[in-house]
Amino acid sequence: MWKKESYLETKIGIINDVNKDIEYIKEAADIIYNGGIVAFPTETVYGLGANALNEDAVYKIFKAKGRPQDNPLIVHVASKNIDKLVKEVPEVAKDLIERFWPGPLTIILNKKEIIPNRTSANLESIGIRMPNNEIALKLIELSGCPIAAPSANISGRPSPTDVERCIEDLDGKVDCIIGWKKSDVGVESTIVDCTVVPPVVLRPGGITLEMLREVCKDINIDKAIQGKPDANLKPKAPGMKYRHYAPKAKLQIIKGNKEKTIEKINEIVQNYIDNQKKVAILATEEISSRFPLGEIISLGSEKNLYEVARNLFEALRKCDDLNVDFILCEAFEEKGVGLAIMNRLNKAAGFNILEV
Ligand code: TXA
Ligand code: MG
Repeated sequence: MWKKESYLETKIGIINDVNKDIEYIKEAADIIYNGGIVAFPTETVYGLGANALNEDAVYKIFKAKGRPQDNPLIVHVASKNIDKLVKEVPEVAKDLIERFWPGPLTIILNKKEIIPNRTSANLESIGIRMPNNEIALKLIELSGCPIAAPSANISGRPSPTDVERCIEDLDGKVDCIIGWKKSDVGVESTIVDCTVVPPVVLRPGGITLEMLREVCKDINIDKAIQGKPDANLKPKAPGMKYRHYAPKAKLQIIKGNKEKTIEKINEIVQNYIDNQKKVAILATEEISSRFPLGEIISLGSEKNLYEVARNLFEALRKCDDLNVDFILCEAFEEKGVGLAIMNRLNKAAGFNILEV
């Protein structure tokens, strides 16, 4: 039988007890140290890591994911001291690091030469973060190097928030997969560019704009975050320009007054069903009983948008499992973590929004 040229024997280690299962992490750290690639848990989503200082290792990440070469990687560290990696840390970045690390916040700073161009996709800057996840921190410490890691999905698919989804995307393509619990945050880290004054949020995430403004009043937000990208509105994070987080089916967001939204969703679902199409509805539990037709996929309670964020990517992947033709979802208020939820939903929907 033909074997795919890229086929790798992937070691899979599931952590039940961090102390007892430390051998898995040690082995994964050795793989990273020796130039291999490892999928591992973080508090945001699972990442696919390599030694950030080893160009050949980093190249393997791009290859395994099918990631465009102009999309830089985030460098993960296990300490707040990043002087070896960046030229300078401005005061505002120091304040943000002090307040939010370890945690879902990536800071963009000017890189030192030690960071290869492959990692930064030829940019002068790099994104750095210290994840708030025991396994991730142990893996970085034991491998003895900063770990470059994008989300552990095949490019374009929703990011994986548990190990099963990593295995689905990466088994046979990476050296090792380390599994632990489901990611707590569920959407990727907030990215703040601190190479400009005032700093600019390039991607919304678990650390909200409101939280950032408590530390730094003067902080802007990249206009491309909320708008459909066009020639005049290029996102500053190269990765944000790509179609992303996308399920196979077409997703439409319905925005407006709650009752009208429910009514509209039911009307559209009926129409699809009349045309022999399969439809899924991503619904908060407060309104899920209002949809008599279609596959209902719960996002959790609208009273807790962190729960919605945690469930979002898995819900999109479930739609793929169900092989639906269309997906409908209500819009969320763009406040707090709602800004990150709407950013991911908008991208997954290709900005297909119907206002009612
Ligand atoms: O939560 C996260 O950040 C996860 C976990 C694994 O840590 N990682 C993640 O990586 O989301 P990725 O590769 O899926 O997204 C990285 C984003 C891309 O949009 C990329 O363009 C942007 O960060 N980025 C990285 N370096 C940058 C830089 N120097 N300037 C601007 N944007 C940058
Ligand atoms: Mg990603």
